[in-house]
Amino acid sequence: MARYARVVGWGKYLPDKVLTNQELEQLVDTTDDWIFSRTGIKERRIVAADETSSTMAAHASREALELSDLKPESVDLIIVGTCTPDHIFPACAALVQDSLGATKAAAFDINAACSGFIYALATAYQFVAAGTYENALVVGSDVYSRILDWEDRNTCVLFGDGAGAVVVQASGSHPGSLSFVLGNDGSGASTIYTPGPCGVNDGRYYLTMKGPETFKFAVNIVCEATRQAVAAANLELSDIDLIIPHQANTRILKSAAKMLDLPLDKFYMNVERYGNTSAASIPIALCEAIDEGHIKDGDKLVLVGFGGGLSWAAMVIEWGRG
Ligand code: ACO
Repeated sequence: MARYARVVGWGKYLPDKVLTNQELEQLVDTTDDWIFSRTGIKERRIVAADETSSTMAAHASREALELSDLKPESVDLIIVGTCTPDHIFPACAALVQDSLGATKAAAFDINAACSGFIYALATAYQFVAAGTYENALVVGSDVYSRILDWEDRNTCVLFGDGAGAVVVQASGSHPGSLSFVLGNDGSGASTIYTPGPCGVNDGRYYLTMKGPETFKFAVNIVCEATRQAVAAANLELSDIDLIIPHQANTRILKSAAKMLDLPLDKFYMNVERYGNTSAASIPIALCEAIDEGHIKDGDKLVLVGFGGGLSWAAMVIEWGRG
């Protein structure tokens, strides 16, 4: 019998503290108008002193498990997409496992920056569709407020903190994922990166980004990865009901929509409220698109992300809890 995997539950967590563009005007030489017109961002969330990627991931996971009617002990695998784990080791997923009481789950992290959630989702789908595991928890969680230079207006206005999670479960009938494309171009590693304590560096662990280069890469790769994933699913772009892209900048998505010759309302967007939450942005957007009624059973979705690496990832999903 054919064996598939599909998403049966989802959840998100956003820290309570809202940081508005007006508040950023007090920190660096910027304006609400500059930030909004160049990025589409109005505000973002920032963690409290006692919050981390693992605590946010655990919150989002609990919500996803509850919706799936699944006990933590029934989870076989936890994969967290993050590039801001609490520790170098153990993995963020190990802390999430303990926090949930998911005692029988294997647990590991995937670092593919903002593409991390789709990398993690594709990995989980493989384990479940292969029959190795029945239930996998896939999380994207990042806490960029801890790796930003709050004196650098080029970067500190762009990002926020948050987490999103889904439960992937085996299915005998529902196809779930129709295709995925994962890619990386390591020659672009210095385009956007954050040094760490194990490298050869000056000990300043702040995110550094070549903004315009990242922008060009992002527009091209959103189009290319979307086209490739749609073709691999034997579909046409016109068959796609909704694209859930990585939420970095509305101008990136406007340019991509134009290049793909798709109406902008095919792209779900919430960057205005949360900024770029890295690996968390796609699962948070997925949760909100579902909650707002934009997704119905049978819809064909494209999830598409890009980020440090330079990495990219796209997946076509036929939606339905089956
Ligand atoms: N407020 C006011 N002025 C600013 C600010 C700010 N916050 N930031 C930069 N500027 C200035 C620059 O200093 C520059 O001034 P100058 O011309 O006097 O030198 C001017 O604005 C224009 O700067 P650009 O970088 O050319 O501005 P651009 O229109 O390209 O927008 C932006 C910058 C928003 C960063 C854009 O390049 C972008 O969105 N890039 C992609 C970013 C992205 O998606 N990153 C995430 C990747 S995913 C991941 O893995 C994390």
